[in-house]
Amino acid sequence: MALQRLPSLPTEELASLEDAELLARVKALPVPRHVAVIMDGNGRWAVQRGLNRVAGHREGVKAARAVVRAAHEVGIRFLTLYAFSSENWSRPSFEVSTLMSLLERSIDQELPELQAKNVRLKIIGRAQGVPRSVREGIARAEAATAGNTGLTLCMAFNYGGRDELVDACRALACQVQAGEIRPEEIDEARVEQALYTQGVPDPDLLIRTSGEMRVSNFLLWQIAYTELVVTPTLWPDFGPRDLHLAIAEYQRRERRFGGVS
Ligand code: IPE
Ligand code: IPE
Ligand code: MG
Repeated sequence: MALQRLPSLPTEELASLEDAELLARVKALPVPRHVAVIMDGNGRWAVQRGLNRVAGHREGVKAARAVVRAAHEVGIRFLTLYAFSSENWSRPSFEVSTLMSLLERSIDQELPELQAKNVRLKIIGRAQGVPRSVREGIARAEAATAGNTGLTLCMAFNYGGRDELVDACRALACQVQAGEIRPEEIDEARVEQALYTQGVPDPDLLIRTSGEMRVSNFLLWQIAYTELVVTPTLWPDFGPRDLHLAIAEYQRRERRFGGVS
């Protein structure tokens, strides 16, 4: 394709492209196989408008829906969305319960479209602590979409990167105790098999919205060599164009994995 021979554009020039040209450029180059997103800034979006923080979460659900569609459309194979962290329980109880019911409701509402688009839903995080009805809704949606072969949508819910590593250590310790493996047989591959993300490749691109320059306990093991893109845009304002811009930015990067170019 002609576009493939075009030099990659600097960030500012990418930002000035029309939507259609930006998308054409993104599609002309290899897209990241796995994109992970820290969907941050819902609260600030609402407060800026004089609204309650939960209004930001409701708007954030709409942004998530549009980004799942856009990811499907550009051919991303794995999309991981950070929806609720193991630390988010410390928020006011009204906010926590709203986030729980928003997840429960959106899974139900989105299921037909996920099925139609051949999307497989996978939840990563600890089930313990999550209200039973939410757990049951998750289990139903995971089972219903288990055979789908298109995009894998991983929702990180009650997820903590440290929890995940602790749980993996426990699982491996149990295997050693049961005599199934010897300690020296524990290697990166076995650790990966013990993570919640088992079977999911490491993210190629991690996007964080709202400008915060931190990873907030997200995918600590998996992002060892992930390309990071932080955008000041608050999550409810993040749309397909912002996803395309982040991918275009990723496509400019040279990944060296500790080697030389
Ligand atoms: C992200 O938005 C959504 C969740 C953490 C559930 P925030 O609620 O963290 O919004 P800010 O960062 O306070 O603006
Ligand atoms: C990270 O955002 C968690 C999610 C997006 C679900 P937070 O808003 O919880 O992170 P901090 O507190 O800014 O680090
Ligand atoms: Mg936040």
